[in-house]
This record gives sequence, structure tokens and C-alpha cells, in this order.
Amino acid sequence: MTGSHLAGAARGPLRGRVRVPGDKSIGHRALMFNAVAEGEALVRGLPRGQDVLSTMAAMQRLGAAIERIDADAVRVRGRAMKLARGSIEIDCQNSGTTMRLLCGLLAGQEGLTARLSGDGSLSRRPMRRVAEPLARLGGLVETTDGHAPLTVQGRALRGADVVLPVASAQLKSAVLLAGLQAAGTTGVTEPEKTRDHTENMLAAMGVAVRTSGVRVSVDGPVVPSACDVTVAGDPSSAAFLLAAAVLIAGSEVTVEEVCLNPTRTGFLDVLQRMGADITATVTGTQGGESVGTLRARASALRPFQITAPEVPACIDELPLLCVAAAFADGTSVLSGASELRVKESDRIATTAALLRTLGVQVEEREDGMIIHGQPAHLRVQSEGGAIATRGDHRIAMAATVGAAAAGCPLMLDDAGAVAVSFPEFFSSLERLGA
Ligand code: S3P
Repeated sequence: MTGSHLAGAARGPLRGRVRVPGDKSIGHRALMFNAVAEGEALVRGLPRGQDVLSTMAAMQRLGAAIERIDADAVRVRGRAMKLARGSIEIDCQNSGTTMRLLCGLLAGQEGLTARLSGDGSLSRRPMRRVAEPLARLGGLVETTDGHAPLTVQGRALRGADVVLPVASAQLKSAVLLAGLQAAGTTGVTEPEKTRDHTENMLAAMGVAVRTSGVRVSVDGPVVPSACDVTVAGDPSSAAFLLAAAVLIAGSEVTVEEVCLNPTRTGFLDVLQRMGADITATVTGTQGGESVGTLRARASALRPFQITAPEVPACIDELPLLCVAAAFADGTSVLSGASELRVKESDRIATTAALLRTLGVQVEEREDGMIIHGQPAHLRVQSEGGAIATRGDHRIAMAATVGAAAAGCPLMLDDAGAVAVSFPEFFSSLERLGA
């Protein structure tokens, strides 16, 4: 689906059981890590979103043999840490995870010069934050005024201890991937704990990963062993369907086989605190990741307070949580979330604009926003509104949930943006009765 799209015109209860596509963060890592591992692996449950396809294409350009078995399964033959040599151009499209993790992976590839580019959105995102920590290991990543396009010149690396100024799993992962190739110990310390899929998957591949609080370290050089991965459903995609169920009267939605890694489920804690009837049941583990079932029922909501320590575990769900706050009677405050300004769009600005279109009074702050929830007035003020998604998949989905819950049609300028992470978003909502 491309172009503008009328979202949320029909309001009815959402009911049913669904699955969501495989987790995007785990999908990237399953492809990338197996492509440099020793041996062959089967990756099942791979999401079909554009971001993970960008990683797949990048690893193929770097010489990995990735063969499609069916729509969501591939076989990867690893290159035992020796990727292609020479000069290679890689288009990371919209995917920050592809670009930043590749910086770490390619920094230690002697004889390889890679030029990494991206689309308009990715080219506006900060990249010195990845070049600088890698330089501490002897890596050379040249930016264009702090942005993409980047040039990564593969070099011999030495282990180092790096302290990251921002909580970012992409940066932590880049340093650890460089650390696998560096001589000696590489440690990385972050201000708050972020998603730990890199640590879990490398451990499943036989790498001795040590975690102590917010510091993670590895000893290099080491070659991971290929490892079959079944990617569980993406909690960040499930969140949109569950929040819609919470907000639309009479709804009850169950999402099965979802990754329930606690570094990802902060949105559940926030929604539960807001009074949402939402439960998580762990049913097993896959590759060191908890997996289970989420169930949400329509509920009346209270406002939230979200501060910095809670932000990393719900970073991608914050625009959606702000939409939920519009339906809570009272004032919600989000702070310590300035990272939102450098996502696929400036998500503080795009979320505040979306809320205003829904008729919500919102005060934008540098590091968050104050939302004056007023559920009774949403419908009248928002009729006929138009949403500028800025090509941001999560803004397109948050807007759709807000419009569906308010029961009023909103025009999305770029509904196709959902294809970045959740191409099945509109059909899943329709299957649930939206
Ligand atoms: C991701 C980390 C997060 C997140 C992104 C995926 C990852 O970014 O927002 O969607 O897979 O490591 P930051 O690490 O920059 O916060």
C-alpha cells in the first residue's frame, strides 16, 4: 500500500487472536550474526518488513549466501568473520539498525572499504555517535558532517573500554561487533540498560558475553558459531493492536508467540499502571529470549508519568503511549526522552502534531511532552484531520490507532510507511474487526 490512506473511519470492537511478524531487532541480528558466523543456520519467522530486507541485501552484498526457503525462512551460510574485500556500496534505506550495526561489523574487516548510505530520513540521523566509540578501538568511520553517507575503512582493532553518552542498543551492538574482531577485551557501558538481543544471540552462538549491570564485555578475536533462530513476534508491532483493543470499547485481543524480553516490554508496565487490563503469559524461551501470549481488553485509563530510566524499554512505543494518554482523563508527563528527536522522524514533534490533530492539548518539551487527556472531546475536534507521518512507520500506526479509537476518519499522507516494520498492520486490524 502506498500514498495517502483514510485511517480509523470505522469504530467497532476488536476481537480475536492474531500473530504479528517476527521481531525486527532479532531479525536483523539473526541475519547479520549468522552471516559472519562459522557454519550454516536456518532462520525462521523472519519479518518481511523493509528494514530487515535492507540488512539481508547488505549481507548478500558482503558475500554471505542467504537462500530463501519460504516466505519467512532463510538459510544463511556464514563467512567465519571474513567478508568480501575491496570497495562496496551499501544502501541501508530507512534502517538505522542496519547502518549502525554494520559500522561495528565492518570496522574490523581489513581490506574492505564500505560506503553506507540511506534514505532522506536515515541521512538526517546522527552518526558521530557510532563513529566515536568505534574510534576508541582503532576503527575508522568517516561521516558526512556527522551524518550518512559513511565510509567504513576496515582495520586491525584493539579492545577498549567505551562509555556511551546515550542509551542505545544500536551503539552498544556496534561496539560489541567490533569487539569480536579486536585483540583483547572490549567493554561497553551505557547510561541505562537497553535491549539485550545482541548479548543473548552472541551467547547462543557460543561467545562468552559478560554482563555486569550496565557494562557488557567480550574477548576477541572470536568467531561466533552459526545458530538456528526462530524469531518470535515483535512486541513493538503487537503494541499497536493491543493498545487499539484497550482504547476501543468492547474489545478483547490476544497476540500469540510474542517476544517478551523484559528490555522490550516497558509499554506493558506503563499501560498496566494506566489501568489497562493487559496481561502477559510467558510460554517458553527461544534463543535466550522469553516468548509468550499477550491479551488486552478495553479499559478506562489514568494518565502516566514516564521518566528517563523507563524510556529505553519502551522507546519505540512512546508515540503510541502518548496517543493512549490522550484517552486518559488527566495530565500525562513524558520526560527524559530526547532520543525520540533522532528517530525515523523527530517523534516528539510528529507525535505532538498528531495529538493536536486529534484535538488534544499538548505542550512540547525538549525531552518529552505534557499531554492533557480529554477523551470526551476527541471525536468532534479531530474530524477531517490530516496527519503528516514524515514517512515514519510508527507515527502512521499510532495515528491509525488514535483515529480508530476516536472513531473519526484521519488522512495519513503516507500509509505505505508501515511496510518498514509491519506491512500486515492494516490487514491485521481489519481481521480483528476494525
Ligand atoms: C534498535 C534499537 C533502538 C530502537 C530501534 C531498534 C535495535 O534504537 O529504537 O528501533 O534493534 O538495536 P537505539 O538503540 O538507537 O535507541
